[in-house]
Amino acid sequence: MPPRKSEDLFAELDRLKKEKNAVILAHYYQNPDIQDVADFVGDSLELARAAQRSKAKTILFAGVHFMAEGAKILNPEAKVLMPDLRAGCSLSDSCPPDAFAKLREKHPDHFVVSYINCSAAIKAQSDVICTSSNAVKIVDRVKKEFGSDQKILFAPDRNLGAYVSKMTGQPMMLWQGTCIVHETFSQRKIIELQTQHPDAELIAHPECEKEILEKAEFIGSTSALLKYAVESSKKKFIVATEEGILHQMKKKAPEKEFIPAPPNKNCACNECPFMKLNTLEKIVAALRDETPEIQMSEDLRQRALKPLQRMLDWS
Ligand code: 13P
Ligand code: SF4
Repeated sequence: MPPRKSEDLFAELDRLKKEKNAVILAHYYQNPDIQDVADFVGDSLELARAAQRSKAKTILFAGVHFMAEGAKILNPEAKVLMPDLRAGCSLSDSCPPDAFAKLREKHPDHFVVSYINCSAAIKAQSDVICTSSNAVKIVDRVKKEFGSDQKILFAPDRNLGAYVSKMTGQPMMLWQGTCIVHETFSQRKIIELQTQHPDAELIAHPECEKEILEKAEFIGSTSALLKYAVESSKKKFIVATEEGILHQMKKKAPEKEFIPAPPNKNCACNECPFMKLNTLEKIVAALRDETPEIQMSEDLRQRALKPLQRMLDWS
């Protein structure tokens, strides 16, 4: 058992939450102690919805920058705080707005579907946003609305894009971004694990590479993986996504065994270094000092809201 945080820290957190009229929204990749104090824990779609419907004056977003930015876009009345402004995302960083604008200029006939793991500046250049839980549905909807001849540019995750293309039968131009966590899983080590645990099911996030997805028995967003693992009659799972999700899996199905999929090096690369920048101490400090706060111009917010709201309306 890790040492318990001092009682003072929890008392201070409670006091600040009341004083600032604050809610804590946390992603499944946060450390267990953060998930346990959060008012709501979810995947990126659920967190976006929770941020939009929140009536709190302050939203403390324990996740990464694009998620907190999304909360601000959807709920401009709230003060949106992050524990650490450096908590970025490799996928989001892989898609610089200027380079993306140039690609769009070259392909004005393409409908732009962007994965929510991107900056507000990329969202503002998109026609609709998707998350890992609704990406297939969103692309199917684009086909339904505009016909299957409609050309689509999908950004920034090439693995999710390829998976969606396969599931929908829709060819798409893919921005070549990847997630540093999901691209590190070792196919060879997973096969070794499957040999040691022939009764275990491999379940994977669609940001994983094609070779891993081809071997997975279930593919889904963090929430979908959690639901599947809890409801399945199987008792053992090899989980190919960031290891933070194992906390909720173990809580909701303590009788089952969850094995984190191994990365290809002897490192903790199945931990998202950005998500893991957040700590309880930083959450308390952010609430106390009301900083760092997510800020953006109203013009950018309005432009980024359009495709984000379209996604929420379509899903
Ligand atoms: P989810 O949409 O499944 O929560 O995934 C977010 C993410 O950042 C995956 O790396
Ligand atoms: Fe970004 Fe990957 Fe971290 Fe998710 S796990 S926040 S995609 S770097």
